[in-house]
Amino acid sequence: MSVHKEVKKITTHVLQEMKNNGEKIAMLTGYDFSMAKILDKAGIDIILVGDSASNVMAGHETTLPITLDQMIYHASSVIRAINRALVVVDLPFGSYQGDSKQALTSSIRIMKESGGHAVKLEGGQEVVESIKRILSAGIPVMGHLGLTPQSIYKFGTYTVRAKEEEEAAQLIRDAKLLEETGCFALVLEKIPAKLAQEVATSINIPVIGIGAGNGVDGQVLVSHDMLGINNEFNPRFLRKYHNLYEEMLGAFESYITDVRSSDFPNEKEQY
Ligand code: KIV
Repeated sequence: MSVHKEVKKITTHVLQEMKNNGEKIAMLTGYDFSMAKILDKAGIDIILVGDSASNVMAGHETTLPITLDQMIYHASSVIRAINRALVVVDLPFGSYQGDSKQALTSSIRIMKESGGHAVKLEGGQEVVESIKRILSAGIPVMGHLGLTPQSIYKFGTYTVRAKEEEEAAQLIRDAKLLEETGCFALVLEKIPAKLAQEVATSINIPVIGIGAGNGVDGQVLVSHDMLGINNEFNPRFLRKYHNLYEEMLGAFESYITDVRSSDFPNEKEQY
């Protein structure tokens, strides 16, 4: 019997059972009430209130500018919409890198003010003390390795990470360390599929990939990207399930035409 069909609410324990049972985990980003309602109805396991909101919602070039207050606003909107999904909230850049006390304070704000169920942060060994401190308050933590967009100015580009042996070995060490420290799951972004599979089979916690191939325990995409709302972002790993850019453009154009021609509103559309 499949685990995820049995349960009314997805918890970190359910996700672990899904991995143990060989059931894939489906995760997508969500930043607002209306989209989260549809995601939850569709049966998504995890909604990630990602700091990608900085790009897709606010139009920034990177994830760096989004603030903790803005993340809490997005997360609380998502929380009001869901019945079943686990809601994981990104700790934004600058809200946890200072020290473990800052990481805990930021995580507590997210949990208390948004009602989120868990936090996610980027990095390996360098964030272990912070993860321990957050966990000590009973807050579940998801890790994130590989391409970590908050470090974009260190990397210089958004290309595939850990192609070289040394970086791959460090990533495996970091993944094991995050598991040992107590992370309940791990996101691997934009790394070779073979390496991602090696990580997923060598640690016991669920590994969710984005641009990391099919050998992992689940997948995550940015909802706006998979819906095709942004027609300028077309990386190889992205499968577009719709072309909402064209559909929305067409709908807006039709509305403008109808208003200008006085076709809208008609007699049935007025009081
Ligand atoms: O912020 C985000 O959307 C993410 C995913 C790309 C994993 O971290």
